[in-house]
Amino acid sequence: MLTEGMPGGPGATPRLSRRRVLKSGLMAAAAPLLPLGLVPDLFDPSPGPTRRWPRFETPLEVPEYRRGANVRLTAREADVQILPGNATRMWTFDGSFPGPIIRRPAGHRTLLTVHHELPEDVGTLTIHNHGNHSTPENDGQPGNRVIAPGGYRTYEYELMEDGAPERAAFQWYHDHTHFRTGRNMWMGMVGGFIIEDDLERSLRLPRGEFDLPLIITDRRFDEDNQLEVAFAAPDRPNATPADALGTGYPPFDEAAGIGGAVLVNGIPEPVHEVAATRYRIRVLNASNFLPYNLTFANGMPFLQIATESGLLEEAIPRTHLLIGPAERAEFIVDFTGRTGEEIVLESVHLEPDFQPYTAPGVAPLMQFRVGKPHRRRMWSLPRTLRPKPYWVQELTEQVDRIWSFGFGTDTQGRMAWTVNGRTFDQNRMDARVERGSTETWMLLNTTPFPISHYIHLHLVDWQLLSRNGLFPREEGYGHDPAESGLKETFRIDPGEVIVIGTKFTDHLGPYMIHCHMLAHEDHGMMTNWEVVPEGGATPPEDPFSELTWIEQLRARTVIDEAQRTGRPASRATLENLPVPKLEADDFVCWL
Ligand code: C2O
Ligand code: CU
Ligand code: CU
Repeated sequence: MLTEGMPGGPGATPRLSRRRVLKSGLMAAAAPLLPLGLVPDLFDPSPGPTRRWPRFETPLEVPEYRRGANVRLTAREADVQILPGNATRMWTFDGSFPGPIIRRPAGHRTLLTVHHELPEDVGTLTIHNHGNHSTPENDGQPGNRVIAPGGYRTYEYELMEDGAPERAAFQWYHDHTHFRTGRNMWMGMVGGFIIEDDLERSLRLPRGEFDLPLIITDRRFDEDNQLEVAFAAPDRPNATPADALGTGYPPFDEAAGIGGAVLVNGIPEPVHEVAATRYRIRVLNASNFLPYNLTFANGMPFLQIATESGLLEEAIPRTHLLIGPAERAEFIVDFTGRTGEEIVLESVHLEPDFQPYTAPGVAPLMQFRVGKPHRRRMWSLPRTLRPKPYWVQELTEQVDRIWSFGFGTDTQGRMAWTVNGRTFDQNRMDARVERGSTETWMLLNTTPFPISHYIHLHLVDWQLLSRNGLFPREEGYGHDPAESGLKETFRIDPGEVIVIGTKFTDHLGPYMIHCHMLAHEDHGMMTNWEVVPEGGATPPEDPFSELTWIEQLRARTVIDEAQRTGRPASRATLENLPVPKLEADDFVCWL
């Protein structure tokens, strides 16, 4: 019964709420026997009756821009006005949530100094410039060159890639602390980082106030408007299961604003007065866990021009846009001729056939109120935007490495998220790649119950080569036309297999691959790979060789089925295969 109740549409089977699941004590049974059928119901994102803010009355705010070569940010506690009534105590950059947006020309050296003035018990911080081609020392990696409370650190960004200025892109910065990224970001430690360049400028896309960043985050609040927090971490070994936030432990470790508020630039359901002209809208999903399926309630189409890796080759007309944690999308929306209209941007259920297992957050996001036409000029709407870098031509479909995103249990029934059957270990290097080489990586989701992963790769941008054996331009399960462009975060539904390729054009040293659903990242689903000098490494003979043997079995079966059918491996396949056993010292220490 419950297993049939996949979040399908407004008319789907009634769902068991998380509250009831928790109370029923099912999750206390931490045996390897997973309550599989219940999982999809846990992610019911319908906002419920808890709305306690005015709808479409509070004006949208855009975070302050920082344009200088020397950016200083202080990480400090601040009371942020989010809901009516009490302000919310958050961990902010310079007192705002989201933090200020850094805005810099590509190729111009930029120094970011972060002062850590949060309370001592917050622990260390490390700030990652997500999407940037940073050296490892400046990449804000977990547990590496961290900032102690009371201290500060200066990150240096050249904003260069492959010897030339980086492509313009909507990047972002956030805390990346070992085991605590989810908690720290939930508490507020995120901000935008826009890189601009000449090619983009020559396109005459909407600029100034017509270039509008929207940062989406969901949060749950208690009666006093304070953030509800339930995160397991070394310093919170007995994190209490807060109702509706999960137990804090895998697989119920998600933190999402389920039943709470979806915020746009830190405001629930704001309104924005726009002129009847074209706007460039940049969306960043900075949520810990939930994807959103964006659409305008009046059905108006928009033109996607960019992914997280910058401009596409060609603009793509669309009416819906699925955007998962850490993904970015930019689009042009045309309000011309709509003076007087009130247009709602919302997140809706996905059509039944395209069924990601992590249900998107469903909510109205904001309203655009269209005023007079803008008299000065009409922004152009070029069809061709930015050519791909030359190396895309050099990629081959021959898979060099396999990364399998799954789940394991230890002998005591403790569970964790895994990559290749293992949990994160800072000191283990899972791959060495040569600088200057191109590689093709296969990423797949073997998780034994229905949950998608949003996998992010540091340092470089990637070209999707296939999804379940189909090319990115072919329609098929999970097809998204924008995946024809470069990206650095990819959705992988359970049983799905994607193949991506890149060229390691930049720095030497360690980088990571991880799920950007932050509870998954914090609870094992992350690993290290390293760029070494030319002649220093070759891909393994057998791309499966880094997988533990049970994970190999899962991976081979999933790959087989997905390639054969052009669809994700079935739920029965995923549930019937053995689940990897974690070794004691393989286990994450936060438990
Ligand atoms: Cu936005 Cu490694 O992360
Ligand atoms: Cu990153
Ligand atoms: Cu995940």
